[in-house]
Amino acid sequence: MNERIQIDSFFLPRAGSTLARDVDFGWHLVTWVSAFFFVLIVTAMVVFVVRYRRRSEHDRTSAVDHSTTLEVAWTVIPFALVIVLFVVGFRGYVNAAVSPAEAFEIKVTAEKWRWLFSYPGGQTTMNELKVPVGKPVRLVMSSKDVVHSLFIPEFRIKQDVVPGTYTSLWFEATAPTRTVLLCTEYCGAAHSDMLASVHALPEAELEAWLDRGGDEALAANPVEAGQKLFTSSSCAGCHSTDGSPSTGPTLKGVFGHDVALASGQKVKAEENYLRESILDPAAKVVAGFQPVMPTYQGLLTEKQLDALVAYIKTLR
Ligand code: CUA
Repeated sequence: MNERIQIDSFFLPRAGSTLARDVDFGWHLVTWVSAFFFVLIVTAMVVFVVRYRRRSEHDRTSAVDHSTTLEVAWTVIPFALVIVLFVVGFRGYVNAAVSPAEAFEIKVTAEKWRWLFSYPGGQTTMNELKVPVGKPVRLVMSSKDVVHSLFIPEFRIKQDVVPGTYTSLWFEATAPTRTVLLCTEYCGAAHSDMLASVHALPEAELEAWLDRGGDEALAANPVEAGQKLFTSSSCAGCHSTDGSPSTGPTLKGVFGHDVALASGQKVKAEENYLRESILDPAAKVVAGFQPVMPTYQGLLTEKQLDALVAYIKTLR
């Protein structure tokens, strides 16, 4: 994942969607009103402590009665502030909660530990969300296993992705960008690797890309392409390539060697074994590991499978 969250104001990530204006305005308003009153109150407190401290044994406070003006002021001012914050927050919330009728709809499926995106034309991408610029996009989301949460900081959107039901979100990207999508609900061992890249591009380019079937041209070098896929398809979340322990068996030195299976059998790790383990992971589970890997059937093209196998062969 090369994308990083770009910070462009003092506190916040770059504002990449139309919703960001509402969210950032509310956030700045609350922050600066709080900062103003914090400084005012703490300063007054310190000044009063010093100025009206008890100077001698005989110091006595004169009788203090109430001040109607003061009491009205410290009731009316906070009340007005709370009403302003409510209006700003409620308007932003309604805007974020109700998607425009004419939205580009993308189905999102979360699964330990990857993101799948299905486009209106039936194309699917894994860990890469492509969206048009200047057009409302609606994400209709569900989970295959546990609760995940979709978060795109640059677009200021976040929503739980729950098994057995649909949740939805909408946004409109304001400019072409590449940014990050994160899972923000702890969902198991590879939660922190459950990332996707977001690519906002002009609608015409997106249409052209979808018309090509969504298949990115693989690099001329299959090993290099396989290495990229290994990261972008979440393989790296569970399989190390340097022999270190992880959720799944390491792939270092696996090719060409015998593998002990949970069934007690042994199998030689050649091309067909690697292919089967990607498409039907439960068929031959390695001894000492749980059958938790999801299938990649239908998600990888033949060329992509070739590239992954070519890359795994180089891990000596
Ligand atoms: Cu999915 Cu954390």
